[in-house]
Amino acid sequence: MGIQTRQVHLIRRPEGTAQPGDFRVVGATVPALADGQVLVENLWMSVDPYMRRSMSPDATDLEPWPLYKPLDGPSVGRVIESRNSAFTVGDLVESMSGWQEHFVSNAGPFVPYLSPNDSLAIRTAAGAQPKDYVGLLGVAALTAYRGIVHLANINPGDTVVVSSGAGTVGSLACQMAKVRGARVVTSAGSDTKVEWLRNVIKVDHAFNYRSQEIGAALKAACPRGIDVLLENASPEHLCACLPLMNLQKQVLIAGFVGTYNLSSKIGLPENFEYVLDRFLTIQSYPFMDSLDRYDQFVADMLQWRREGRMHLEETVYEGLEQAPHALCALLNGKHIGKTLVRLAA
Ligand SMILES: NC(=O)c1ccc[n+]([C@@H]2O[C@H](COP(=O)([O-])OP(=O)(O)OC[C@H]3O[C@@H](n4cnc5c(N)ncnc54)[C@H](OP(=O)(O)O)[C@@H]3O)[C@@H](O)[C@H]2O)c1
Repeated sequence: MGIQTRQVHLIRRPEGTAQPGDFRVVGATVPALADGQVLVENLWMSVDPYMRRSMSPDATDLEPWPLYKPLDGPSVGRVIESRNSAFTVGDLVESMSGWQEHFVSNAGPFVPYLSPNDSLAIRTAAGAQPKDYVGLLGVAALTAYRGIVHLANINPGDTVVVSSGAGTVGSLACQMAKVRGARVVTSAGSDTKVEWLRNVIKVDHAFNYRSQEIGAALKAACPRGIDVLLENASPEHLCACLPLMNLQKQVLIAGFVGTYNLSSKIGLPENFEYVLDRFLTIQSYPFMDSLDRYDQFVADMLQWRREGRMHLEETVYEGLEQAPHALCALLNGKHIGKTLVRLAA
């Protein structure tokens, strides 16, 4: 008889704010392995803002999650049974098969978001803990790395603005920009987050975008204008930055987390003339374009952490049944840094 496991299913598509009641935890029996297959016990799963878009039927850039079926998302686990010569019991593997305690994999090659849910990559970096593969070395971290290390043209002393600075992409991007010698200005949605950005992440300037007018706060914080904007938050934040951009500089858009609970479409910024008048480069980008340099990314992140230059704050929810609460709390801006769910010790 196969072992018993649990999965989280989406049972309705939310209008507006996502709720834990949109999900249900369901029991399932793991089928016996066929030749070539691998059985994985998940240890950690990630919750990420893009998952709110996966809950909607009309996401333009990804497959909507199905109703009443297992969901997908970044996870890391251990092989506990193998009928595939490339995998041994005990191997640590990264996959897109989060939201369940166990899964059977056909063990195809793994590309985050792009490969089937049951594909796998063995992870062995020295100095990395299992949870790092969904945190410090996960998709959000690679997004920050692609933006600040691969795409941004930063000269020492340049002013880099990062929105949603207390989030995962934001906080790591702020630290990477500091590594590159920039002056870093950022914002977040509470005084506690702002204090953390000043004291722990050691940015040059941080402000609370809920209690201060964003344009005025940025103008005061960027007397020499903005050279690179890494946008994570919203069209409003982007609009506030455009008049401050220096000539022929860069706007990199990782995403607009502030819009994911909304059903309305995103239009052009109302002050788009600044893009034309200042000859700005404005670019939205996928983290996947840096996967060919994944090993260098891992080496850099682990080295910067050892040197005390890269810190990821983590909030850990315990147990699969907490995963919907973890996602909804993330979307409500409750936590600093990365939100993770521990599925097994
Ligand atoms: N391009 C890519 O390949 C790629 C890959 C991964 C992620 N991303 C994007 O990168 C951005 C950051 O992702 P992340 O994983 O690091 O998430 P995150 O920043 O950790 O997301 C949580 C934070 O977003 C802010 N937030 C949440 N809801 C909001 C709302 N309604 N309005 C304004 N802010 C809100 C909150 O911070 P405050 O309290 O400070 O508002 C919250 O703490 C997102 O836009 C995401 O879609 C892009």
